[in-house]
Amino acid sequence: MTTTDPQPDVEAKNSMQAKYFRKALNDLTPNNVGQLKALNEVIFTEKQSDDFYKDAVKSEEFAKLALFNDICVGGITTTKETVEGSDKTKVVITTLGVLNAYRRMGLGAMLLDHIITQSEEAKDKAISEIHVNLQTKDEGVLAFFKGRGFAAKGSSGALVRLINAPVSA
Ligand SMILES: CC(C)(COP(=O)(O)OP(=O)(O)OC[C@H]1O[C@@H](n2cnc3c(N)ncnc32)[C@H](O)[C@@H]1OP(=O)(O)O)[C@@H](O)C(=O)NCCC(=O)NCCS
Repeated sequence: MTTTDPQPDVEAKNSMQAKYFRKALNDLTPNNVGQLKALNEVIFTEKQSDDFYKDAVKSEEFAKLALFNDICVGGITTTKETVEGSDKTKVVITTLGVLNAYRRMGLGAMLLDHIITQSEEAKDKAISEIHVNLQTKDEGVLAFFKGRGFAAKGSSGALVRLINAPVSA
């Protein structure tokens, strides 16, 4: 049976989402880091130490929370390491998670894109790559990272995205 009900077109649906669903990034601070810890304990099987979260608060723009209608539903943490045999720095994603009910709404991309932009614009010491060591074989998570320019590099199993790499012709 067909329906004559008017179907909202894609543009109308998107503007409805923009009106009613607010997405934003928030700084990680000593006051809200408990929210990130609680989220990560739901999303990941591996627990992180209190020192891990203390260090995350010190990461400034390299750790963020994702808010959906002002509620914290996701977050990203990273560390910085020296690239072996070079004077460059790599950003390593230690946790990136969004609560299940809030996935596929662009929050993960918003968190990761922020870290990519910060890496591209870092002035202190050149950041040459971003790494993530996936603990999951989930095809969706893989698709998420591949869609944002990450690819397997070497035998380490890490997915890597190069920063400010020359574009080959
Ligand atoms: C990986 C993760 C953070 C993605 O968060 P998210 O908010 O759902 O991602 P987004 O909505 O921003 O997705 C952006 C794009 O990535 C791709 N993508 C994301 N999840 C996907 C899935 N399950 N299947 C296929 N493609 C997917 C899509 O292209 C998507 O765009 P679209 O929804 O317009 O098609 C989330 O799945 C998660 O928390 N997973 C568990 C934790 C984890 O494994 N983290 C990995 C590193 S520590």
